[in-house]
Amino acid sequence: MHGKFFQLSYTRVAAMVGGAMMLLSQTAYSAAILEGQRMHPVQGKEGMVVTSHFLATQSAQEVLKNGGNAIDAAVTAAFSLAATQPRSGNIGGGGFMLISSEKKNEVVAIDYREKAPGNATVDMFLDKDGNADKGVSRYSHLAAGVPGTVAGLAMALEQYGTISLKEAMAPAIKLAEEGFTVTPRFSNGLKKKEKMLKKWDSSRKIFYKADGSYYEPGDLFVQKDLAATLKRISQNGIKEFYEGKTAELLVAEMAKHGGLITMGDMKNYTPGFRTPVHGNYRGYDIYSMSPPSSGGAHVVQILNILEGYPISDYGHNSAQTIHLMAEAMKRVYADRSSYLGDEDFIKVPLKGLTSKKYAASIREGIDIKKATPSSTIAPGKPLPYESNETTHFSIVDKFGNAVSNTYTINFSYGSGIVVEGAGFLLNNEMDDFSAKPGVPNAYGLIGGEANKIEPNKRMLSSMSPTIVKNEDKNFLVTGSPGGSRIITTTLQVIMNVVDHGLNIQSAVAAPRIHHQWLPDQLRIEEGLSPDTIKGLQDMGHEVKQKSAMGAIQSIMISDGMMYGGADPRRSTGLAAGL
Ligand code: DON
Repeated sequence: MHGKFFQLSYTRVAAMVGGAMMLLSQTAYSAAILEGQRMHPVQGKEGMVVTSHFLATQSAQEVLKNGGNAIDAAVTAAFSLAATQPRSGNIGGGGFMLISSEKKNEVVAIDYREKAPGNATVDMFLDKDGNADKGVSRYSHLAAGVPGTVAGLAMALEQYGTISLKEAMAPAIKLAEEGFTVTPRFSNGLKKKEKMLKKWDSSRKIFYKADGSYYEPGDLFVQKDLAATLKRISQNGIKEFYEGKTAELLVAEMAKHGGLITMGDMKNYTPGFRTPVHGNYRGYDIYSMSPPSSGGAHVVQILNILEGYPISDYGHNSAQTIHLMAEAMKRVYADRSSYLGDEDFIKVPLKGLTSKKYAASIREGIDIKKATPSSTIAPGKPLPYESNETTHFSIVDKFGNAVSNTYTINFSYGSGIVVEGAGFLLNNEMDDFSAKPGVPNAYGLIGGEANKIEPNKRMLSSMSPTIVKNEDKNFLVTGSPGGSRIITTTLQVIMNVVDHGLNIQSAVAAPRIHHQWLPDQLRIEEGLSPDTIKGLQDMGHEVKQKSAMGAIQSIMISDGMMYGGADPRRSTGLAAGL
């Protein structure tokens, strides 16, 4: 099976040699195709790492160089990000990891999403008048879910890695203990969030100098408490985090400020394996994250709807293509509001949502030339029940393994609260629950019964770590931060490669669009032409240009070559090959 990617690329090669048709081996094609292109991915043959921070990329690249596999490199990158990018890299949050092994021909998903504490209650974020109180669900100790990152990373390493936890944590410990040079992005992030972080003594003393002034680009940033915490975990294993001194510090922090997490919650936390959502788009196999993330279900659902249209003929980012994408997106986000939640607690009609038949029925309601107002769209009827910063990285090795990992503490710097004495930030993931039916969360996402707060339940996510396979071979490894925009960002990189034949760097960099049903607004990045925007307005869309969306660190593998595309939307991202 050759997808559009190869068809288009051959055409372009032919065009480059003046229209004369050439018969190229696929390897020759790969090298040739990049000649003359506007953007170039980083190339490698033995491995590729793409993360949002160059120091994490370098730590992981070193692991691959020393013969480690993609899982070893992934766990190393994740801990390094916890030290170098505290706005999203974490040990106080949670996430999802997809691992594809070509040798075993399997794709598995590790769910290390945070859980609600055992004492959480359905109305814990409602004030006395019954209104959802954003301050409490986002910026208090009640905002924290029980962290899953340490257990999830250790599980990945134990089951699929070849190095010890100690080895995987060593670069992070060094970065925290000896410090690293502050970048403009690091400095700016802390300046921007000064109010939120300085509210807490424990946070102020970590992220600002003793006199309260800022860390400026070029300064050394050292984290002694974090280094000590990481060292304890590295020496004593994950029990340290969930039952040892670290757990005690976290629980003391909770007790002091009215938080709910207990030693029992910490001890009881377990990550788990989930079956990834699987779909097929124009012959490519799509594997993405299943509940408690909505990401995979909706990436597949939107692709299924769009498969019925000749997208590549309509063209990349043309008004016609964007119109159809937006129409599919709104209907899918309406479904999200009603059907998605933690499958350990509710039944999610996953088969129905991701079926081609349901997609066909949704297509029937789409007018090819006219926007349907969101007010007239409600969650559909899938077939019956069959029973502001995150960070993503993608890594592949020479052994046929691919890792796609997205993890988060929800907002940039989570709740802004550092655990006193432990040096790491608490997530504010509890805001991803539906605090009250119909009241949007921080990303404007609406939920109801399926995503209500329950003890020990995982809050619904949009994180969509994704691996696309082509004839049983890993082909595309991708995923992004961006809250509600994660799903549509991931979707567009897949489409840019499969439908539009873009190389991975171009696919990652291309301007993106987003619609999430409510608000009824087509959000775009800069870079669409005025006549495209006019075309969309003429079809009835309210178009709003806003800030950039997502940071999709991606890899494409073709003919034995690995192509890395770091998202230019992050100044510190780096793709590095071997
Ligand atoms: O799990 C989720 O969907 C959100 N907590 C992700 C937050 C996020 O991506 C923020 N980053 N831009």
